[in-house]
Amino acid sequence: RQFCEMSNSNDDDIPQLSSHTLAALQEFYAEQQQRTDSGGNDKYSIGIIEENWQLSQFWYSQETALRLAEEVIAVAGEGGRIACVSTPSVYQKLRELHREDFSVCIFEYDKRFAIYGEEFIFYDYNNPLDLPEKIAAHSFDVVIADPPYLSEECLRKTSETIKYLTQGKILLCTGAIMEAAAAKFLGVKMCKFIPKHTRNLANEFRCYVNYNSGLDCE
Ligand SMILES: C[S@@+](CC[C@H](N)C(=O)[O-])C[C@H]1O[C@@H](n2cnc3c(N)ncnc32)[C@H](O)[C@@H]1O
Repeated sequence: RQFCEMSNSNDDDIPQLSSHTLAALQEFYAEQQQRTDSGGNDKYSIGIIEENWQLSQFWYSQETALRLAEEVIAVAGEGGRIACVSTPSVYQKLRELHREDFSVCIFEYDKRFAIYGEEFIFYDYNNPLDLPEKIAAHSFDVVIADPPYLSEECLRKTSETIKYLTQGKILLCTGAIMEAAAAKFLGVKMCKFIPKHTRNLANEFRCYVNYNSGLDCE
């Protein structure tokens, strides 16, 4: 829609919106209001924060985000704690489910995700253990991570964070080419499940786990 149409017919020389434009504007605000009124659900929609390719952001498809969210809920167990490391769309999907039987933190470099308040933890893989004091070692039942770059260095540093956070269980999503490095740093093995993104990526992506997972039964 266009809102910049002006009519200058008024003698006062004050630009006025035409009635047509005003109606469109009112409709727009009504829609916005409705979104807010519907419990702020939209806040957790994947894509509400747009991909920034400079930050290597490629969001999972709805189906993949849901599959991964269900997986970490099952693995974390009743009342479990889940850490989403550089996996904001899994965090969003978890919160969209409106379930009270787990807790979750989103570890992210992109401060736009600070809209999620206390659950947002600023994190830069270059400083893997530079985390707030309230984040105790091994305080998460499961960690899901998708490092921003397909390099050994990035995976090695991200692995330090993962190993600090987890009580044991790890679900890593990254390129198929990282298989050997993932086994070396985290002792994880490749699953049959193939994660999908909202856009087609040139690199083949896979999931890796260090426990018996349904993701290996596809
Ligand atoms: C390949 S994407 C993974 C996103 C995942 N596919 C999803 O849909 O949730 C990499 C993530 O790493 C984050 N990231 C970028 N630079 C980072 C940094 N320096 N430290 C930690 N995370 C970073 C990006 O913001 C992005 O969320």
